[in-house]
Amino acid sequence: MAINLAIVYYSSTGTNYQMAKWAEEAAQEAGANAKVLKVEELAPKAAIESNPAWKDHYEATQDVPVASSDDIEWADAIIFSTPTRFGNLPSQMKQFLDMQGGLWANGKTINKVVSAMSSASNAHGGQEATVQALYTSMMHWGAIIAAPGYTDPVQFASGGNPYGVSVTVDQEGNMVEDVKDAVKHQAKRTIEVASLVKKGQEVNA
Ligand SMILES: Cc1cc2nc3c(=O)[nH]c(=O)nc-3n(C[C@H](O)[C@H](O)[C@H](O)COP(=O)(O)O)c2cc1C
Repeated sequence: MAINLAIVYYSSTGTNYQMAKWAEEAAQEAGANAKVLKVEELAPKAAIESNPAWKDHYEATQDVPVASSDDIEWADAIIFSTPTRFGNLPSQMKQFLDMQGGLWANGKTINKVVSAMSSASNAHGGQEATVQALYTSMMHWGAIIAAPGYTDPVQFASGGNPYGVSVTVDQEGNMVEDVKDAVKHQAKRTIEVASLVKKGQEVNA
């Protein structure tokens, strides 16, 4: 039974896009149907153009589909990847969540299996707070949070954030920690939990 996985991300300069792509790679290895979807960019053009890395990434990802409520309804599982902004979610990601009110009101967010990842410029720059902010909204959705915990040794090698993979990005935009394997583990675990939930739903149907 293939799991439908939506990988919903926001990224200004490519870090969270790369993490989303690693999650997609893991999902394909696990036999899931995966879609990498960006949330809509809301920043004014002038802001994007003032930062060459942002402008380059914005232009390079024009072909990535924009996440919609239909994608959330389709998904058995959702992985969110999002930068930290002042210790919190970027407004672009928050806007996406806020646009799911209709879905929520119709009970369509219930039992989605979710997990989240984040990045920031500093090792302790708020990644955990960002992941937890997203999880707070997920509790309102009635979603099932499949945090990675310490379910695999790769967690320790990547910085050991049990809430969700987090990474530090240096001034040149490079990831400091090697988190690829941890991202792939988190994606596979999210799919595994979604599979248990889906099987349970079929048995009880
Ligand atoms: C408005 C703004 C606020 C930010 N706030 C934080 C912060 O609170 N802590 C931190 O370490 N980095 C902060 N950063 C750095 C971003 O988290 C970093 O650029 C981002 O994680 C890179 O991800 P991306 O390449 O996917 O855009 C901030 C950046 C911006 C533009």
